[in-house]
Amino acid sequence: MDLSVVIPTYNEKENIVILINNLKKKFNKNRINGEIIIVDDNSPDGTGDLLDYISKKDKKVRVIHRTGKLGLSSAVLAGFKISKSKVLAVMDADLSHPSDSINKMYSLIKDEDVDIVIGSRYVKGGNIVGWGNYRKILSKGATFLARVFTNIKDPMSGFFMIKKECLNGIKINPKGFKILLEIIVKAKYSKIKEVPIIFTNRVHGKSKAGIKEIIYYLRNLSSYIFSHRNLSGKFIKFSLVGLIGTFINLAVLYSFTELLGVYYIFSAILSFFLAASSNFILNKVLTFNESIKYKILSKYYKFLIVSICALIINLAVLYSFTELLGVYYLISQIIAIGFSFILNFIGNKIWTFSN
Ligand code: GDD
Ligand code: MN
Repeated sequence: MDLSVVIPTYNEKENIVILINNLKKKFNKNRINGEIIIVDDNSPDGTGDLLDYISKKDKKVRVIHRTGKLGLSSAVLAGFKISKSKVLAVMDADLSHPSDSINKMYSLIKDEDVDIVIGSRYVKGGNIVGWGNYRKILSKGATFLARVFTNIKDPMSGFFMIKKECLNGIKINPKGFKILLEIIVKAKYSKIKEVPIIFTNRVHGKSKAGIKEIIYYLRNLSSYIFSHRNLSGKFIKFSLVGLIGTFINLAVLYSFTELLGVYYIFSAILSFFLAASSNFILNKVLTFNESIKYKILSKYYKFLIVSICALIINLAVLYSFTELLGVYYLISQIIAIGFSFILNFIGNKIWTFSN
C-alpha cells in the first residue's frame, strides 16, 4: 500500500460518496495504490450506514465507527492507527480540499523525499472561496498567532500529507481541530513544503468549527511553547535574561535614588531603559542567536515598543484584577507579570527577531 487517506466525517452524507469516487479516480490515473480510511462519529444523518455499504463492496475503503462526536483530531489519530501505508494524508470530507492535488503532494514525498506536504491556502496561487469575513478574520488571527512556532504560511490547513515515520514516538493532543500545527511543532522531519490549493467552502452540510475549537486552540498554543523543539530553550533563555534585567532595574533604581539623590520616578524611568537595553542585547545575542550589529537600531526600537506594550498590559491586568475583580494587588501583579511576560516573548519572537 502506498498511501492512506484519512477522512473524518460528521454528517457528510451528501459529500462523502463524491469524495471517495474522486479519490479513486485520482488513484487509478496516477497508479497510486491507496486506501481510504473514514472515521465517522456516529453521524445522525446516516453517513455511517452509507459508508458500511460502500466499504463492503470496496476493500480499499475502510470505516471506523466511533460512539459519538469525539472531535476532529482524535478521529485523525484513530485513522492513522489502522493505516497500512508509510504515507498518510488527511483531508476534509466536505469537498473543500481539491482531490486534484493528491498526486502532486504524493510525488513530492515519493520523488523528492519531502517529509510533510501541506495543501496551503496562503501561499502564492492558493486561495479561499466562499468564506465570509468573520471566518476569514478568525483564520488569519489564528494563523498569525501560530507564527510564534513556525514560518509555514498555512499551519492551520486541514489538508496535508506526511511520512508515517515522522510521527514515531511523539504524542499528539487529541483535543481540538488543528492537528497539523501540533504535528509541525512536535514531529521529526527535515523537509516540509507547501503547495497552493484553492479551498472552497462546503456546499452541503455545515461547519463544525465553533467557540469550543477556538478555546482548545488557544490552550494548545500555550502548551506548545514547552513542547516545541527549540522554542522551549528560547523561552527559558528569555526568562533568564528577564531575571537579569529585573536585577539591573532594581540596582539602578536603588543607587540613583539612594546614592545620587535622584528623584525616584526619574531613577525608575532611567532604570527601565537601562534594563530594557541590557535585555535587548542579551536576547539578541543569546536567545535569538543574532550578531549584535545586525539591524541593531530598528530592532532596538521594536524591542522597546514591545516592552512598553507589555508594561501597559501589565498595568491594565493589574488594575482590572485588583479594582474590578477584587483580587489582592500582589496576587494581581503576579498574574499580570505572567500575562505581559508571555506577550513580551511572543511579540519579540514574531516581530523584533523574526528576520
Ligand atoms: N469524526 C469526526 N468527528 N469528524 C469531524 C468532527 C468530529 O468531531 N468535527 C468535524 N469533523 C469532520 C467534518 O465532517 C469534515 O469532514 C472535517 O472534519 C472538517 O470539518 P468542517 O466542519 O468542515 O471544518 P471547517 O471547514 O470549519 O474547517 C476546516 O478548515 C480549517 C482551516 O481553516 C478544517 O479543514 C480544519 O481542519 C481546518 O483547520
Ligand atoms: Mn469544511
